[in-house]
Amino acid sequence: MRVSLLVPAAGRGERLGAGRPKALVPVRGRTLLEWALSRFPPVDEVLVALPPGAEPPPGLEARYLEGGATRQESVYRLLKEASGELVLVHDAARAFVVAEVVHRVLEATRTTGAAAPAIPVPDTLVEGATTYGRALDRERLRLVQTPQGFARSLLRKAHEAALREGRTATDDAQLVRALGHPVKFVPGDRRMFKVTYPEDLELLSALLQAEADELA
Ligand code: C5P
Repeated sequence: MRVSLLVPAAGRGERLGAGRPKALVPVRGRTLLEWALSRFPPVDEVLVALPPGAEPPPGLEARYLEGGATRQESVYRLLKEASGELVLVHDAARAFVVAEVVHRVLEATRTTGAAAPAIPVPDTLVEGATTYGRALDRERLRLVQTPQGFARSLLRKAHEAALREGRTATDDAQLVRALGHPVKFVPGDRRMFKVTYPEDLELLSALLQAEADELA
C-alpha cells in the first residue's frame, strides 16, 4: 500500500518565542522541518503545509502547500492532495523522529486502519490552573504523539464529519475516534516530544549531538 506522509508545519510557534514559524527554527544547522523529514523512513509521497509566505527549505523531496488557521485545517488541506492508501500525519515540531516508532505505527495502521504512538505519563496530573485540584489517575492516561497512521479514506471521512459538525481537535486520532473507529496504540518514544517551549530546543540539540557522537 502506498504511504503519504502529511506534515503540518504551518504553526506560528508563539510559545517557542523564536520570532519565526516553529518548523523553520534552526537547531544544529537545520530547521525542525528538515530534521523531521530527513530522519523519517522513506515513504511514497511527502506533503508539507507551511505558513503563508514561508519559503520551503531547499533540497527536500516534498510538495508544499499553504497551511490553514489551525492544525486541523492544515492537515485537511494536505489530506485532500494525498494519493496514498495510507497516510501518516506527523508534526514538524516532533523533529527527533525515531524510525522504530514510525515502523510500529505503519504496521498497526496496515492491520487496523488507525494507529498512534503513546507513552505513559511520568508526572502527577491534576486539574486546575492556579490551585491544586483533583488528581487524575495517571496509570489510566497516556501522552499521544505523532506520526499517527490512517487509511486515507477513513481520515478524510473523519475530517469531513468534524467540519460538518463543527468539531475541533488537536490531533487526528480524536477525529477518527469521534466516528466510532478505534485507534490502536503502539509504544511511542520520549525523544519524539513536541518542541514547544524554548528549552525544548536545547533538549533536541543535545539528543542530536548525542546521536552524532555515538555514530562517530
Ligand atoms: O501548535 P502545536 O505545537 O500544537 O502544533 C502542532 C503542529 O501543527 C506543528 O508542527 C505546527 O507547525 C502545525 N500547525 C499547522 N497549522 C496551524 C497550526 C499548527 O500546520 N495553523
